[in-house]
Amino acid sequence: MSNLLIKNAYELVTCKGNHPKHGKEMSDIGIIKNGAIVIKDDIIADVGDTEQILKKYNESEYKVIDATSKAVLPGFIDSHTHFIFGGYRADEFSWRLKGDSYMSIMERGGGITSTVRATRNTSLNDLINIGKKRLNKMMEMGVTTVEGKSGYGLDLETEIKQLTAMKELNEIHPIDIVSTFLGPHSVLPEYKGKEEEFIDFMINNVMPIVVKNNLAEFADIFCEKNVFSIEQSRRFLNEAKKLGLKLKIHADEMVQFGGAELACELSCVSADHLLQASEKGIKNLANSDVVATLLPATAFCLKEDYARGRYMIDSGCAVALATDFNPGSCFTFSIPLVIALAALHMDMTIEEIICALTINGAAAIGKSDVIGSIEVGKKADIIILEYPSIHFLPYHAGINIVETVIKNGKVIG
Ligand code: NIG
Ligand code: FE
Repeated sequence: MSNLLIKNAYELVTCKGNHPKHGKEMSDIGIIKNGAIVIKDDIIADVGDTEQILKKYNESEYKVIDATSKAVLPGFIDSHTHFIFGGYRADEFSWRLKGDSYMSIMERGGGITSTVRATRNTSLNDLINIGKKRLNKMMEMGVTTVEGKSGYGLDLETEIKQLTAMKELNEIHPIDIVSTFLGPHSVLPEYKGKEEEFIDFMINNVMPIVVKNNLAEFADIFCEKNVFSIEQSRRFLNEAKKLGLKLKIHADEMVQFGGAELACELSCVSADHLLQASEKGIKNLANSDVVATLLPATAFCLKEDYARGRYMIDSGCAVALATDFNPGSCFTFSIPLVIALAALHMDMTIEEIICALTINGAAAIGKSDVIGSIEVGKKADIIILEYPSIHFLPYHAGINIVETVIKNGKVIG
C-alpha cells in the first residue's frame, strides 16, 4: 500500500469533470489555492485546502510531498501521436525548407511511403526500444498517457507489429498507451487507383485480427483530398464501429473536405487537425461531443496557418491539444512547444490550454471518467511544476518546467 500526500500547492489545478468541456467551460479549471491531495495506492482519495486536509489525515501515515511555491496539475495527455515508426525523413524536411510541399513529396512516393519501407524493415524489438526512449522523454514533459497509431505498415504483418510494440510498451512502461489502428493512412504506389481494394483489405484482412487480439481501442483514417475520400472514410469507420472500435479521423488538414461533418455524422470520439474545417463543420462539432483535437506543432512544422482554436472555443467546441509526433509532418513531442504555439498563435488562454491537455485530452481518448483531472476516484496521474503558477507555462516558451511526475500514485520522474 503506497499512500502519498501532496500539500501546500500554491495553485492546485483540478480540471474537475468527466466529459468533454465545451467553449466557456474550458476556462473553469477549478484552481484551489494552497491545495492538497491525498492518494491511496493509485487513486485520488481526497482533494482540498491544505489546512482542511491536514485536519482529516495523519501526515505520519503518508509519504509527504511539500509543494510550497509550486503549481500542481493533472498529468498531460498526448491524445494524438504516431510515435512508433522506423527510420527518419530529415531529407524531406530539408526539401520542404527549400519550398517543396508535404503533399507533393507524398505524391512522388516519399512521405508516409518512405516511413512504411523503414518500419517494415525494423524489428519488433527495435520498435519497442525506440518507443521506450521516446516515452521516457515524453514523461519528463509531464505526459502520463499517450495515444499512438499504427499506419506505417499498411500490410498485415507490419500493422500488427506496430500495434504489438505499443501493447508491450504499455505493459512495461509507466506511461499508459492507448492504441489506434490507422490502417488507411496512405495509398502506396501499388494501390493508386485501387483505393477501394485497399480499404477492403484493411476491413477484411487486418481489422478482424487487430480486434481479435485486442490490439487497438480506436480506428482512424487519413480523410484527405488525394488520399481517402469521404465515402471511403465513412465505409471504413462504419465497419470499425461494427467491430466495436471507437472512432477518430484525420480531418480537413490540407483542404476543406467535409471531414469535421463526417466525424459528427459518425459520432467519432475526436476529429483531428481541422486546419481547414468549414463553418458548418465547426458548428456541428460545437453541437456534439466530438472533441476537436488541434495539433499546432504540425501547422508550425509545415508552415501552414493554424487551426482556428480561438474561434472554435468561442463557437462552443470542446478542444483538445496534442503533439501529432510523427516522422514527417511534425517531428516533435514537445508539450512546451504546443503550449507556446497555442498561446501565441491560436490565442488560447492558459486555462483553456491546460483543459485541452488534460480533461479534454482524456475525453479525446474516451477516458474522461478515469483520468484528466484531480478529483476523488480518478487515477493519481499528477505533475508538479517548478514554479507557483500556471502562468509560468506559456511564459517559458518551449522550456520544460515540469519538476515531478506522479503516475498511478507513484513518483516516476
Ligand atoms: O497526422 N496527416 C497524416 N498523418 C500524419 C503525418 C504522417 C507522416 O507524414 O508520416 C499527420 O500529420
Ligand atoms: Fe496524425
